[in-house]
Amino acid sequence: MLSLLQTSVFRSSSAHQASTTSPHPTGGASSSGTADLSFPWSRQRLPKYIVPLHYHLQLHPNLTALSVTGSVRIQIEVKSDTNWVVLHSKGLQISNATLLDHKLAHLSDQVLPVLHHPGHEQVAVFCPRVLSSGQKYFLQLQFGAELTEVFNGFYKSSYKTGSGETRVLASTHFEPTSARKAFPCFDEPSFKANYTISIRRSPEHIALSNMPIEKTVRLKVDLMEDHFATSVKMSTYLVAFVVCDFRSVSATTSSGVQVSIYAAPEKIEQTHYALEVAIKTLDFYEKYFNIYYPLPKQDLIAIPDFESGAMENWGLITYRETSLLYDPLTSSATDKLWVTIVIAHELAHQWFGNLVTMVWWNDLWLNEGFARYMEYIAVEAMYPELRVEEYLLNTYFAAVARDSLNSSRPISSPAENPTQIEEMFDIVSYDKGACVLHMLRHFLTDEVFQSGIVRYLHKFSYSNAHNQDLWDSLANTCSGDDFTSGKFCYSGSQAAKNAYLFAGEHMNLTAMMNTWTLQKGVPLVTVSRKGSRLLLRQERFLKAVLPSNPVWATLQHGYLWHIPLTFKTSTSSTVHRHLMVTKTDSVHVEEEVRWVKVNTDMAGYYLVHYEDGGWDQLTHLLRENHTALSYQDRTHLIHNAFQLIVTGKLSIGEALDLISYLPLETHTVPLLEGLGFLEAYYKMLEKRTDHDLTLKLRTHILRFFRGVIDQQTWSDQGSVSERHLRSEVLSLACDLGHAPCLQVANQSFEDWLRSKGTLSLPTDLTETIYSVGAQDDQGWEALLHTYTVSHSETHKRKILSAMGSSRDTSKLNRLLELALKGEVIRHQDLSTLVYMVARNPQGQRLAWDFVKKNWGMLVQKFQLGSFCIRSLIVSTTAQFSSPEELADMQSFFKSIEEQASQLRATQIALDNVEKNVMWMQRNLGALRDWLNTHTQ
Ligand code: BES
Ligand code: ZN
Repeated sequence: MLSLLQTSVFRSSSAHQASTTSPHPTGGASSSGTADLSFPWSRQRLPKYIVPLHYHLQLHPNLTALSVTGSVRIQIEVKSDTNWVVLHSKGLQISNATLLDHKLAHLSDQVLPVLHHPGHEQVAVFCPRVLSSGQKYFLQLQFGAELTEVFNGFYKSSYKTGSGETRVLASTHFEPTSARKAFPCFDEPSFKANYTISIRRSPEHIALSNMPIEKTVRLKVDLMEDHFATSVKMSTYLVAFVVCDFRSVSATTSSGVQVSIYAAPEKIEQTHYALEVAIKTLDFYEKYFNIYYPLPKQDLIAIPDFESGAMENWGLITYRETSLLYDPLTSSATDKLWVTIVIAHELAHQWFGNLVTMVWWNDLWLNEGFARYMEYIAVEAMYPELRVEEYLLNTYFAAVARDSLNSSRPISSPAENPTQIEEMFDIVSYDKGACVLHMLRHFLTDEVFQSGIVRYLHKFSYSNAHNQDLWDSLANTCSGDDFTSGKFCYSGSQAAKNAYLFAGEHMNLTAMMNTWTLQKGVPLVTVSRKGSRLLLRQERFLKAVLPSNPVWATLQHGYLWHIPLTFKTSTSSTVHRHLMVTKTDSVHVEEEVRWVKVNTDMAGYYLVHYEDGGWDQLTHLLRENHTALSYQDRTHLIHNAFQLIVTGKLSIGEALDLISYLPLETHTVPLLEGLGFLEAYYKMLEKRTDHDLTLKLRTHILRFFRGVIDQQTWSDQGSVSERHLRSEVLSLACDLGHAPCLQVANQSFEDWLRSKGTLSLPTDLTETIYSVGAQDDQGWEALLHTYTVSHSETHKRKILSAMGSSRDTSKLNRLLELALKGEVIRHQDLSTLVYMVARNPQGQRLAWDFVKKNWGMLVQKFQLGSFCIRSLIVSTTAQFSSPEELADMQSFFKSIEEQASQLRATQIALDNVEKNVMWMQRNLGALRDWLNTHTQ
């Protein structure tokens, strides 16, 4: 029986305030039951008057019965007198609660009452004797649980051996709020504690956890117990354990850390690349952060059922197979880059996230924004040939796409319940976070940025930080102690390298960075010329709302950014800098400059619009001498121009004129950027019924990019960048029905079929070749068969994409059914499959109907705020562009209102479609006119 003391504390902003008030000691409650006790705590966040110090956790997972029994003894420190210990637990059967004093003597000779508050995923243990402030105690609980069929908590995974036998394993994924599903705990990032874990298993299995095994005891003939070394102080969400029958390869870093890669036995050959990358990356970070990795070992393990890409558990990083395994025979250049990036991301978390953790989930970007940004710093330094910097631009584009809709949010946003916390793992925390850091690094210089973050990491090691702590560490202020130790504080001469300080401008880093992290949106800087002055004006860039709309003024009100502006002109090769802190401003330029390009190399997080013929001058420059600008600048101009179309500041004709130089372009990134916009228009038109216009655009694209298409060879040769270009260009050419492309692809597919799948195709083109082959029945069936027997997940992904491109709706339905069943197509791949079907013009409707029809099951399998659920909503509707489709979405969201209202993703999807509808209404005619005059 429980009685919930639900007050309205939660929801109000007071929920954010730390509370150290404890409920009054309630003496005299009957210990015979919980009947006259009511749950003592009404907030989502735990009270702060009890702090966990050390967990002794013992687990016995049964991989046959799919259940777990366990016990936990938590050493706690009491900060204020109380009778209650409140902590998290979800779905656990708790028995035998006891409290012991610091000498391990029982405080009560009876089993203590445990009250449950399922809504808050909390339990409260009542102790008849007051727990006194300043004292330490032990809370001991026994519990039982199921090995869950979902992708978080302690969950079941399985794989098939070559001989068809199914093997079961158990693995964990706790971030952000699922540790409480595996054991009772204080499941908040600021409650850092040490963990001593032991796990029982059968002799044919191995057990892994964050720390190495200290000893193994044989309890019975068929029961072993592994005791792991005590961990460092860390948050609950980083605890991990796996019981499986995997094999591993190992090596040691230069500072002596043992690194191992684990995978299913038959995939062990695919682990070597990851081992090389992990060793190199750990060495790199130890130097870059000037802090040794503190654990003796680091394991990286490929889990066959994994919802996201990877998870940075300290010392035991779990990965989806495609994020860790590299198969030289079937992995493409992009697959290899992805593995490198994911390893770099998760290892960066060992410092940003694990060593120093955000105080609360509202500042998740301190984990994820940094890890995303460190991907680029690390991979660029270690594997320059992978040209990872070319992908950084995509981070900027993704962030702008999200941030230019009103449904965006500030980087730091309130998040209280598990759904809201889950939803923090989004483009804003990751990509905008990384963009803002990139801008800051350019602003401060590499040296100052690096020494600032090193200081931050040292100062907050094994503890938690707020945004302000980061700004303080980065700002040019040294405490006396720091300065004299000379260690982590940069000297005056280094600070002078800061171009802005050098220019004598006043800088208030906190004020500046607050404008990027505490307010949502992306600024648009409009530039015009007046003699020797460059006039500047900033506003919030909004894609789905026009200035003529009555809400425009409200949406602009109060928005102001401190923009570290940079620009180049026709008369100087140096970069000019200016910190713009007001709505309007101006800077000096020489009268004779012909063109000005603002936001050099796209290092700043802002868009630019050029008035007074500024765009014409740049269009002219690109046609005459495009290499006068860097490839980033060219890409930025293309991106900018196409963004402005939606707002009416630039016509579609002007944007298409700007990219008219592209036949001269040889760099992958601007080429793909220009191609990408035309492709996106094509994809949207293809799903409507205007066949004539669709055909015209198709002809235009093929004609316009003829040069680059014809240049491509059907091989894996060349640099990573060239290979990337080839794979994208040929995929589009075949998709658009370019006859020479289809011919080669068909021939290659036939050869592959005839070889019974033994022929190696160029890895970068496999997906394209399969997609062409999948258009006939026999080809499609052969691919499905290969999918079922393949042992390479990257290969399977390519096959899935090809099968999902079939124009036959019965085949698409078959795929959706297979994904729903979760056997041939695993549930972990469901959202990807649905996305693949949705982007197919024949599949868009099917995919959306599938989501609507199976919503209940989907939400049960993947949590409400999870990446999969959000992806299902956003990806199936991404290309809707009619008012009817918008209305259909609205009515579905209304029918699931209780869930929909908790999600940002529904509003993001609606905003996006509103933008598409507006685009169609405003630009379809103009596009038709332009094509009519240019494609005769
Ligand atoms: N900490 C996250 C894992 C995670 C994701 C936890 C979502 C909870 C919800 C991890 O570091 C991460 O960011 N993983 C990425 C892959 C990475 C390369 C961007 C992912 O899973 O998508
Ligand atoms: Zn991450």
